[in-house]
Amino acid sequence: MISGTDIEPGGPLVAGVRRPMPRDRFDALSREILELKEQHNAVILAHNYQVPEIQDVADYVGDSLGLSQQAEQTNADVIVFAGVHFMAETAKILSPEKKVVLPDLNAGCSLEEGCPADKLKELQETNPNFWTIAYINCSAAVKGLCDVICTSGNAHKIVSAAPPDRDLLFVPDENLGTWVMEQTGRPMTLWNSNCYVHVEWTHAAISRIRGEYPDAPVVAHPECTKAVRMLADEVCSTEKMVHFCQASSSEAIIIATEAGMLHRLKKECPDKRFIPAPTEKCACNECHFMKMNTLEKLRDCMKHLTPEVELDPKLIERARLPIQRMLEISARP
Ligand code: 13P
Ligand code: SF4
Repeated sequence: MISGTDIEPGGPLVAGVRRPMPRDRFDALSREILELKEQHNAVILAHNYQVPEIQDVADYVGDSLGLSQQAEQTNADVIVFAGVHFMAETAKILSPEKKVVLPDLNAGCSLEEGCPADKLKELQETNPNFWTIAYINCSAAVKGLCDVICTSGNAHKIVSAAPPDRDLLFVPDENLGTWVMEQTGRPMTLWNSNCYVHVEWTHAAISRIRGEYPDAPVVAHPECTKAVRMLADEVCSTEKMVHFCQASSSEAIIIATEAGMLHRLKKECPDKRFIPAPTEKCACNECHFMKMNTLEKLRDCMKHLTPEVELDPKLIERARLPIQRMLEISARP
């Protein structure tokens, strides 16, 4: 039997369950982090999948769209990015004059790995009429080859705004791409890659949990497969999950996304019960890239201002245009 309240994602993983970091350790580390933040005039941006203790010391916690908006607008001298590498890279592209550091340089993403820039270029060369839309989960080199970027929070708007006379190429997430095609009715050529975490949920596992909690709506990320999305009451980005759960009258909600999200949801909706959607293998799902970041590594990267994201200025220039185009379209009413 799976119990949402029994599963606390954060701290070390013991027998498949995350234990919260001991309070005194958290207090000592967060004091140090606060001092370093003031010393360097730094801002800490954290993704919704980060471990609870990182979310709890961050200045802003959100989805990829919110994080890129924050990175563009901040007055800080240093951006400390607690997320995965492509997110920190995006922050550097939007704020090239700032120092961008991250807790672990190896925090990658299976979607980014699945779409090498040289292979994308080869495909683009087969059709000069392609208008390439890249999900933000890709490298700076891939962004530099694209016309516009999107996130799960604005994909519908970005695809709807694409020039009607162009052939759309959507990279790298085939599941997000299929979902947006369903929403917009625009046919697209899809790159064949996926998120190794979100494809773990199956139709059978979600059907079973729905049977156990018949009154609980299912909320799923669009990186899930179509078989899972079909069973969901709401399909949306991680930030929109917060809005959906706040507005929902249900006392319990089933969540099909990375386990770090549960901490954010519990904070925003303390009176609700969140049930992590089970996969066939375990009760909750974690992205090992996101979980490479720890509070200790966050402190260390702020102490030494390393590892730092460094990019070729020419690549920054090329990759900035499609990201700014996304932010501009996103801000339209
Ligand atoms: P969001 O932009 O919805 O937070 O998604 C990012 C991500 O990596 C999902 O796996
Ligand atoms: Fe990439 Fe999936 Fe991890 Fe998100 S959850 S960062 S898409 S591997």
